[in-house]
Amino acid sequence: MQYNKRTHTCGELRSSHIGQTVTLTGWVDTRRDLGGVIFIDLRDRYGKTQVVFNPQHHEAIHTLAKELRTEFVISVSGTVERRPGGTDNAKLSTGEIDVLGHTLTILNKAETTPFPIEDKLDTNEDLRLKYRYLDLRRAPMQQNLLLRHKMYQITRRYFDEHSFLEVETPVLMKSTPEGARDFLVPSRINPGKFYALPQSPQTYKQILMVAGYDRYFQIVKCFRDEDLRADRQLEFTQIDVEMSFVDEIDIQTIVEGLMVRFMKEIKGIDVTAPFPRLTYKDAMEGYGSDKPDLRFGLKFSDLSGLVKDSGFKVFTENVKKGGVVAGFAVPGGAAYTRNQMDNLVDFTKSLGVGGLAYIKLTEKGIESAIEKFLGNELCMQICTTTGAKVGDLVLLVSDTWQKTYSTLGVLRMEMAKRLNLIDENAWNLHWVVDFPMFEWNDEEKRYVAMHHPFTAPKPEDAHLLDGDASKARARAYDLVMNGNEIAGGSIRIYDSALQSKVFGLLGIGPEEAKMKFGFMLDAFKYGAPPHGGIAFGLDRMAMLFAGAKSIRDVIAFPKTSSGISLMDENPSEVDKKQLDELHIKLK
Ligand code: AMO
Repeated sequence: MQYNKRTHTCGELRSSHIGQTVTLTGWVDTRRDLGGVIFIDLRDRYGKTQVVFNPQHHEAIHTLAKELRTEFVISVSGTVERRPGGTDNAKLSTGEIDVLGHTLTILNKAETTPFPIEDKLDTNEDLRLKYRYLDLRRAPMQQNLLLRHKMYQITRRYFDEHSFLEVETPVLMKSTPEGARDFLVPSRINPGKFYALPQSPQTYKQILMVAGYDRYFQIVKCFRDEDLRADRQLEFTQIDVEMSFVDEIDIQTIVEGLMVRFMKEIKGIDVTAPFPRLTYKDAMEGYGSDKPDLRFGLKFSDLSGLVKDSGFKVFTENVKKGGVVAGFAVPGGAAYTRNQMDNLVDFTKSLGVGGLAYIKLTEKGIESAIEKFLGNELCMQICTTTGAKVGDLVLLVSDTWQKTYSTLGVLRMEMAKRLNLIDENAWNLHWVVDFPMFEWNDEEKRYVAMHHPFTAPKPEDAHLLDGDASKARARAYDLVMNGNEIAGGSIRIYDSALQSKVFGLLGIGPEEAKMKFGFMLDAFKYGAPPHGGIAFGLDRMAMLFAGAKSIRDVIAFPKTSSGISLMDENPSEVDKKQLDELHIKLK
C-alpha cells in the first residue's frame, strides 16, 4: 500500500513547527467526534499528537476519518496549527499544537482490544501477559523498556571506559554449581548427553582470567530452574564482571562507580562512594537480614547477657543452650490493643519460633506479662538498652542465633510497613561483606557454599577449613539497595589444592570434582592469576529504578509465577519425531 512516510514522531511537534506540513504515523489512541469535527490522539512510542479532521477543510478525509477506531494504524499528513486559545494540553509534550489532517491512509484496522491501552490499567496481569504486545504499547511499559535500554548503554560505556572487554560466553554449556536447578538441553548428535543453560557464566569468566583477559564484562542471560517470586524469573539478565590481580575493594570500587552513574543518569541523584560496609554478622544481629533495608532504623539489641540469670526460664534456658534473646523498640507501639498484640504474636509464631515476648512502656510504667518473671528493674533495663521511650513497645524473641535474628528481621520489616517508616523516595546502598563460607542445608543434610564453591576464604580464616569450617568467613560481598540484593560476588580461589579442599568440605569428592570441574582445575594448573568478580541482577535493579513491584514489569516478555509465557503458550508439547531425534521417551 502506498502511504506517506512519517516526517516527525508523535512526540516531536512543538509551536516552532506551526505552519509546516508534516506526516505522522502511528496508532489511534482516542477518537472524539465533536459536532462534526473529529479529533484523534495519534500515538507512537515517542508520544501523542492531536490530529483534527474538519469537514469544512477536507470533506473526503473527514468522511474516511469517521471509520477510525482505537488502535487503527494510520498515516496522516497535515498542517501544524496552534491549538485554539484555552485548549492547550499541558500533560502532552505536543500539547500546544494540533495537526489539521488533509491526507489519511488507514494502514491497518484493529479489533477491539481486550483491555484499553491506558497508563493506569486495572486489569489482571495474566491478560496483560497474554496480550503483551498491547500491554507494551502503554506508556509506563515503554518507559520501563527505555530504562533498561539506558542501563545497557550506561553499562557498556562505563566498562569500555575502564578497559573492560565484553566477551560472550556459551548458552549451551556444562552445568554450573550456582545452587539452583539447571535447565537441560538434550544433544541430538550426542545421544544421552545434555547441555545445561548457564545459571551464570561463572566458570567461563574465571577461565577468561586464566586466559589473560584481566577485565571482563557481559550483559548476559542466566537461567535457573527455581521457584519464582516477584524478584525472580527463570531467565534473567546479569551484568557480569570479573577482574584479575584485584582484591575486594578494587571490585567494589568499580561497582560503586557504575552505581554512581546509574543513580545520576537514571534517577538524577548524586550518591557518594564508597558505600557503607556492614559485616554479615552485624547485618544479621542489627537488622535480621543479609540484605537489610537501612532506609529506617528499628535496630536490634542483644539482651542475652541482661536476661541470662533472670527468673524467666524461657530466656535463661535458651541462653544456657547457646541461644540468643534479642529485641527492638517499636515507636508508639505501647498503644497496640490486646487484639493487635495477639495478632502479632500469632504472626511471629507462624515464622517458626515458640513465641513473642513484649514489654510496653507507658506513662504508668511497665506493662508486660513477663514482668512477673523478670521484675520491674530488668524490664526497665531492657527498655533502656533497646532505646524504648514512654509510649513504645519492645518486642523480644528467644531462640537460636539464626532463628532469633531472622524472625526479628521479618518482624522489623512488618513493623516498618505498619508504621509507615519506609521513605519510598530514599535510596540506600550498602555492602554486606564477610559472609560465612558455608551454610547448612537441612534438606540435603550437608554444607553448601553460601556464595559458590569457587569463593575464597578470608586468609585469617583459612585454617578453619581444617577445623570448624562452619565458622570460616568468605571473601564474598553483596550490594544491597533498599533491602534488595542487587549484586553478589567474591574473590575466587585460584589454587587447585585449596579448591580441592573446599570441594571436599562441600561433599564433592575428587571423582565428581574431576567430572564436573576437571576443565577448570586443569586450567588452574597453567598459571591462574588471583581474580574475583561480581554479577548484578539487572532486572532487579531496573525494577527498583522503575518503582515497579515485580521484575515482570521491566521484562519485555516475562514468564508467570508458574513459569509460563502466556502469549506464546510456552512451554508446550513437541512432536514425537522431535523427541525421537533427541532420544527421549516420555513417561
Ligand atoms: P548470584 O547468584 O548472587 O551470583 O547472582 C547475582 C545477582 O543476580 C540476581 N539474581 C536474579 N535475578 C532475577 N531472577 C533470579 N532468579 C535471580 N537469581 C539471581 C540477583 C543476584 O544478586 N556468578 C555469581 C556472581 C559472581 O560470583 O561473580 C552469581 O551468579 O540480583
